[in-house]
Amino acid sequence: MSIIKINRNEITAREGANLLWTALDNGFFIPNLCAIRNVKRPAASCRLCYVEIEGEKAPVSACVQSIRDGMTVQLDTPGVARLRNTAFELLMSHHRLECHICPKHKQCALQDIASHIKAKLKPHRVRKIVRDLPVDSSHPRIRYDPNKCVLCGRCVYVCQEQGSGTLDFSFRSIDTLVSTFAGMPLGEADCNSCLACVAVCPVGSLTLKPSV
Ligand code: SF4
Ligand code: SF4
Ligand code: FES
Repeated sequence: MSIIKINRNEITAREGANLLWTALDNGFFIPNLCAIRNVKRPAASCRLCYVEIEGEKAPVSACVQSIRDGMTVQLDTPGVARLRNTAFELLMSHHRLECHICPKHKQCALQDIASHIKAKLKPHRVRKIVRDLPVDSSHPRIRYDPNKCVLCGRCVYVCQEQGSGTLDFSFRSIDTLVSTFAGMPLGEADCNSCLACVAVCPVGSLTLKPSV
């Protein structure tokens, strides 16, 4: 076992364990969207989980750090806040913000993160460029709103883990999108309705349809 410090609190943790999950399991909130527990090679794509580690020149992503004995970690330094809050604003600049009608309202990771980092959901330093893609309601249980997707990749990962592989990333750069093979509507794709994607989606992009 290793002894590390997070915000000056001593924590006992397994040497080599993941820093993000160790912090979360010990009650220290680090904003994150793309992290998946026990994944060997985290995507580290959301750029929200910055922390400062003593001895490192610049903030690093907690989701790709392993615990080392004696590690000293700070979560909310000005350097962390600058990088993390900028990443959050950029992410929100592509997000269709309509919380009042969103199925995820009050259970949304974006709302939790905004509240934790004391940021507004609506970006004020960058221009908002929201996509206007059709919402896919073709599946009997699932509603997919690509305009709210934050490209965290969780749904793609669990869909592949479940053996279905129905969901994947399509296109590149600002056009990147989660979709089915050949962009087929979800209701016509080879989906086994396990609903694992809905369970892991941190925002209001993949949600259950209201039961009738
Ligand atoms: S996904 Fe979250 S932030 Fe976005 S509209 Fe829904 S509740 Fe609001
Ligand atoms: S649909 Fe949800 S889980 Fe999938 S990439 Fe988008 S935000 Fe993440
Ligand atoms: S959780 Fe670390 S970059 Fe997304």
